[in-house]
Amino acid sequence: MFRKRSYSLIVVGLLFVMTMALLLYGSRLFTNIEEEAHMTQENRIVVGVSQLGSESGWRTANTESVQNAFTRHNGYFLIYNNARQKQENQLKAIRSFISQRVDYIIFSPVVETGWETVLQEAKQAGIPVILMDRNVDVEDESLYVTCVGSDFEEEGEKAGRWLERELVRQRRSSQSVNIVILTGTEGSSSQIGRSAGFAAVADRHANWNILEEKCAEFTSTKGKEVMKTFLKRYPDIDVVVSQNDDMTFGAIEAIEESGRTVGVDGDIIILSFDAVRGALDMVADGVINVDIECNPNQGEYLLRVIDMLEAGEKVEKKYYVEEDIFTIDNVTQELLQERTY
Ligand code: AHR
Repeated sequence: MFRKRSYSLIVVGLLFVMTMALLLYGSRLFTNIEEEAHMTQENRIVVGVSQLGSESGWRTANTESVQNAFTRHNGYFLIYNNARQKQENQLKAIRSFISQRVDYIIFSPVVETGWETVLQEAKQAGIPVILMDRNVDVEDESLYVTCVGSDFEEEGEKAGRWLERELVRQRRSSQSVNIVILTGTEGSSSQIGRSAGFAAVADRHANWNILEEKCAEFTSTKGKEVMKTFLKRYPDIDVVVSQNDDMTFGAIEAIEESGRTVGVDGDIIILSFDAVRGALDMVADGVINVDIECNPNQGEYLLRVIDMLEAGEKVEKKYYVEEDIFTIDNVTQELLQERTY
């Protein structure tokens, strides 16, 4: 009886010691994880990125470029948010970055207006804001530190100047030319800049008739829809200017379904913007006449800007990414193989 009791006491004792050991180990384990998580945030630069959406191949490439730049390996902790084309979602994301006290806010504004209040809030919280891809229209430029992106007006002018040269080459420079324009998201920097740049060249040519400009929201589905209405309304279109490749894909489908032909050997001249891989294939095949590049690889530029800010250096208000212009004459197999997007 006594023996039995003492055995039970030993077993209970052992169980007690083991439980205590486990609790102790567990609590140390949790402390380590917490400490590590804390250290992770402490040692890294925390960046909140609000991407405007995923409407195009270009946008996907832009997102990948940012995600590949702000990695743990490079010393960053990235908080990423996709606003799905809605300004209200971007405003929410930026406010949540402010309440999380991130070190930097990067965002690609879906449209140019409507940002003053939230940018004031970021400024008051002492968080530097960097614009990516597109710009904002604010009176007080101190509300953001810098903008990394394209010169959209120059892109539009490049398109116009290419058309001038092409019409001379085709000996049509004094003939009447009917043009339709598919525009991107209304009020976005890319739409505003490309429209203004192309219009500046078109204004110099009384024989260029802009039949209509219509928004197709930078998407392929809308591009096809809008092009169909253009084709019904205007039987004599000579030139299509489409402000991004995705809209161009849709527009070309609509044109071909209508029985008309496009490109170098076709009867409608196609001007596109972005120069994503799929579109460059079509340039090489003579389906798209010219593609004005818009460079989505902005992650590296943004890294450099933050490095400079961390080093206390002064940064410029605007950094333009490098961009080219592609026709059947300079799209090589090598270029196509190198294109990652
Ligand atoms: O702002 C850049 C534009 O946005 C790209 O041309 C387009 O594809 C994207 O959606």
